[in-house]
Amino acid sequence: MASATAFPSSISSYSIVSRESSVGSVKRQDASVVAAAAAAAPVRPRGRLMLARPCRALEPTNRADSAVRAAAAVEASGAAVGEEDTVDYEKLDKELEIASPLEIIDRALEMFGNEIAIAFSGAEDVALIEYAKLTGRPFRVFSLDTGRLNPETYRFFDTVEKHYGINIEYMFPDAGEVHALVRSKGLFSFYEDGHQECCRVRKVRPLRRMLKGLRAWITGQRKDQSPGTRANIPVVQVDPVFEGVDGLGSLIKWNPVANVDGKDMWNFLRTMDVPVNTLHSQGYVSIGCEPCTRPVLPGQHEREGRWWWEDAKAKECGLHKGNLKEEGGISAANGNGVVTSNGVGGIPDIFETNTIFNLSRPGIENLLKLEKREEPWLVVLYAPWCPFCQAMEASYVELAEKLSGSGIKVGKFQADGDQKPFAKEELQLKSFPTILFFPKTMSKPIKYPSEKRDVESLLAFVNALR
Ligand code: ADX
Ligand code: SF4
Repeated sequence: MASATAFPSSISSYSIVSRESSVGSVKRQDASVVAAAAAAAPVRPRGRLMLARPCRALEPTNRADSAVRAAAAVEASGAAVGEEDTVDYEKLDKELEIASPLEIIDRALEMFGNEIAIAFSGAEDVALIEYAKLTGRPFRVFSLDTGRLNPETYRFFDTVEKHYGINIEYMFPDAGEVHALVRSKGLFSFYEDGHQECCRVRKVRPLRRMLKGLRAWITGQRKDQSPGTRANIPVVQVDPVFEGVDGLGSLIKWNPVANVDGKDMWNFLRTMDVPVNTLHSQGYVSIGCEPCTRPVLPGQHEREGRWWWEDAKAKECGLHKGNLKEEGGISAANGNGVVTSNGVGGIPDIFETNTIFNLSRPGIENLLKLEKREEPWLVVLYAPWCPFCQAMEASYVELAEKLSGSGIKVGKFQADGDQKPFAKEELQLKSFPTILFFPKTMSKPIKYPSEKRDVESLLAFVNALR
């Protein structure tokens, strides 16, 4: 393992952090690294409204390292020669739309130097590291070690470190939070009530901590990875969700392979003889945590191997939740938190069609009380801000149309905020959405047990019980 004190004269393939470093801390560097870091950060990019808040001139921070000080000096000189311009990231994104990943990463590293890092998952996004190496600039790499990765992924991290002579900056979940989650809900709660809570503890919060020490990050997201959530990701954007050193609206998110398809990624990896995770040869395409990732068959979409028990259109773990629509609403609520909605924060209601009955609290209480109903009911318990509810909106509306006139009533009950305790106690609500079938002759509703919320699956459920 290369240590920070043993850099060769060429730094092109070396991360400038040490194994011991946590966020942004940098160990002693040799002169060539410092010089390269200075060259890597000649201009401090400044954002604009809706783009990125202007960054303060870099001051030597508690990260009292030579590379950062060198960058600060260059920053100051950049400002002195009139580099006060803000960067219009929407414009930059358009400019870079047809640029190669190599050009994009080069640009990112040039602009942000030591204050940008590659988010490496341990899958084919190793391509980002290869591209960074090819730029000849110093670069940093971090990984979120959730504690639940496959053994093959841990081995692969080690292979990558050795191959590139880098030290990956691992981020770990807070031990107290993991303790509380596992003690109260067990090791596999995500199969019961969705992956958001566990991902929040094991991935999102560690990511948040990491990003708080950066001004930009680089991800391996691609449009073709998830038609439901990633079809519109830009090459570069002001991060809509996470904060950097200068707070919300200042962190820049780079997605250099946004427009590359999986086949071309693999051609690149093969051509450059880049080491890859051995899980790929066992049928794994997209790779996350062991309990939440499985191989896919030829012809299956890679995302089907992730959180396969959940709805395809909402499969984001929170690392990239800005990809989900109404992301402001999601982050306000984010999972199972108590949230008042009813349009608060401008979140529009969902399932709005005249074939779906909007049940009030007395309405659903009445439905619950009846031993014999005139007709069976299918009711969704939902929250308008919930990405899973939003994702099933189209199929539920279509289902209601199909069932109209069939003798089965289709309804909705907004069960967040004040209604949540009641819904949990009386209506079996554990997570949103919960779908209940109220049969004609039984008072107790039957909960739809599956995460598949397409029209056919829901119809099969209704037909089995009607
Ligand atoms: S996820 O949100 O569904 O888990 P995905 O596996 O598609 O993400 O990876 C997309 C990009 O997110 C990766 O290329 C990487 O940049 C980042 N990422 C995902 N998982 C991790 C991780 N464990 N550590 C660091 N970055 C990650
Ligand atoms: Fe937990 Fe699965 Fe998310 Fe990993 S992917 S953090 S195991 S829910």
